[in-house]
Amino acid sequence: MGVIAIGSIITGTGSFLPETRLTNQMLEQMVDTSDEWIVQRTGIRERRVAVDMQAIDVALPAAQRALDDAGRKAEDIDLIIACTVTPDSFTPTLSCALQDKLGAKHAFAFDLSAACSGFVYATDVADSYLRCGKAKCVLIVCAEVLSHLIDYTDRTVCCLFGDGAGAAVYEWSDTEDGILGTYMRSDGKNGNALFAPAFAAENPLAMPRENKTSHYLHMDGKTVFRFTARAVPDAIDGVLQQAGMDISQVDWIVPHQANMRILDMVIRRYGLPAEKVFSNLEHVGNTSSASVPICLDEMRQQGLLKNGQTAIFVGFGGGLTYGAVLIRL
Ligand code: UT7
Repeated sequence: MGVIAIGSIITGTGSFLPETRLTNQMLEQMVDTSDEWIVQRTGIRERRVAVDMQAIDVALPAAQRALDDAGRKAEDIDLIIACTVTPDSFTPTLSCALQDKLGAKHAFAFDLSAACSGFVYATDVADSYLRCGKAKCVLIVCAEVLSHLIDYTDRTVCCLFGDGAGAAVYEWSDTEDGILGTYMRSDGKNGNALFAPAFAAENPLAMPRENKTSHYLHMDGKTVFRFTARAVPDAIDGVLQQAGMDISQVDWIVPHQANMRILDMVIRRYGLPAEKVFSNLEHVGNTSSASVPICLDEMRQQGLLKNGQTAIFVGFGGGLTYGAVLIRL
């Protein structure tokens, strides 16, 4: 008798990128930088910016596309998890705004805040709800309008980040094994290396921390880079060990898109063919939580993901947080 497979599977993906492009050449006119520096240090050539748009405006089309791709209606969703570091309001949450706009009347909804690890953390939560039977259909929507947090006179951050949204529908399957392992970690001690205050500095009571300069995002790139160099292999090794698999059994690595040098490090460390480590960094930049689901949607649209293949999703960033998911597609 064969082994009976059950598990959490992805049944649909969707994404949305705002139309407006911000190229390296445009940034050269805004700050003391160069296309050459940005490409060599990051691999990014352009990113999108959500002009006159809010998080809900990028989240909604991505969510709708994921539902259409899954062949599901809004009423089929039991749980909506939204990930964002750029919500339109603390309350109502982005997830509740989505629940309303989609008409997901049977769903409960909450936001999950784990910055660039958002999709990976949310996948672990979705898998837990599906596994214990409390939900059958979970919609994850990761939506970022990071341009709202960026000081476009600060060259250390304005070249890196872009806006966009990615979404995925996870469902429980009685015939496929789906998620094979998850591995989540946090490093709060180094959290201030990637810092965005909750309130602007004008409110003297709001921010009892040393960094009172503005509401903008600040990053100590070198510290975060060093963290990433430890975190990414730890996440990949950890999830492989949890699933009892080795890297040769993995078809795709889909990492958070922060820096081409980090992806190259993964390629070298595991001796992988470069095309197994997916990247869209060049034209999307770093979209925080949205980066992994945007990649997944691009990969599906390009016909790269085949049934039965395996993939590791890797998230790392603000918090500091990191983690990985190993899934059979
Ligand atoms: O999404 C969350 C996870 N994020 C990450 O994992 C990001 C990790 N960090 C990084 O990707 C890299 O640290 C950066 C791309 C942010 C920076 O690259 P770096 O090689 O670490 O550069 P650096 O910060 O050490 O800066 C090197 C030099 C400095 O000048 P001096 O002090 O050597 O004279 C910077 O002032 O480059 C300068 N610099 C720039 N020059 C031109 C910094 N930003 C720019 C710029 N254009 N945009």
